[in-house]
Amino acid sequence: MLLGVNIDHVATLRNARGESEPNVFEAAQICINSGANGITTHLREDRRHIKDDDVFNIRKNLDCKLNLEMAVTDEMQEIALKLLPDACCIVPEKRQEVTTEGGLDVFSQKEKIKNFIAPLLEKGIKVSLFIDPDENQVIASHYTGANFIELHTGAYSRAFNTEKEEQEFLKLKKSAELAQSLGLTVNAGHGLNYINVSRMHEIIGLNELNIGHSIISKAVFIGLKDAVKEMLSLIK
Ligand code: PXP
Repeated sequence: MLLGVNIDHVATLRNARGESEPNVFEAAQICINSGANGITTHLREDRRHIKDDDVFNIRKNLDCKLNLEMAVTDEMQEIALKLLPDACCIVPEKRQEVTTEGGLDVFSQKEKIKNFIAPLLEKGIKVSLFIDPDENQVIASHYTGANFIELHTGAYSRAFNTEKEEQEFLKLKKSAELAQSLGLTVNAGHGLNYINVSRMHEIIGLNELNIGHSIISKAVFIGLKDAVKEMLSLIK
């Protein structure tokens, strides 16, 4: 499995002081030099962590696979078409949420999502849809022409080590199998940490994990390089 490191939380820390440290570009560089397969950033409508300059700076000055997470808005589409990241992961976004709480409802807005991602696909950007592990969402995602889905692992992560773990894990496994049978590449992320990540190996053919909070949290104690390397050793 590949590892995309989500560096949003480095920006959150930087923004707490409104100055330049910790440096987001340097964080991205360390992740890549430590073996991460890509950098993931969520450019939110309110710019609460990552800012436009961060993503353009990474795109211009760091040779890495850049995955831009973004909401279905005209503004974000315009930015993506200028930035030309390697991949865009389309996510739902609510101002009040602390983090991306659920998957994108592709099922009830198939045509809208299809039209929204078409110009991105035309420019050669790979498009991923961040969805809950649900059969209808997988089938709808396939309909839109997206290349990938990213399965929201938040419910599984919260259920880990409880009686609900198996149920949540099976939703992920079945959704991944269905998506793969339709020709979609399957990624996963949200809430994964150094312990619950172990079961991702049971999902055959999983392509990439996008992990942020647990890696940046561990980096506070052991440094970013070792935090990335330790996660890589668990998922390879
Ligand atoms: N993937 C997507 C689409 C996300 O929105 C997020 C959170 O921003 C992540 C992965 C990473 O989640 P976490 O920070 O919990 O590892």
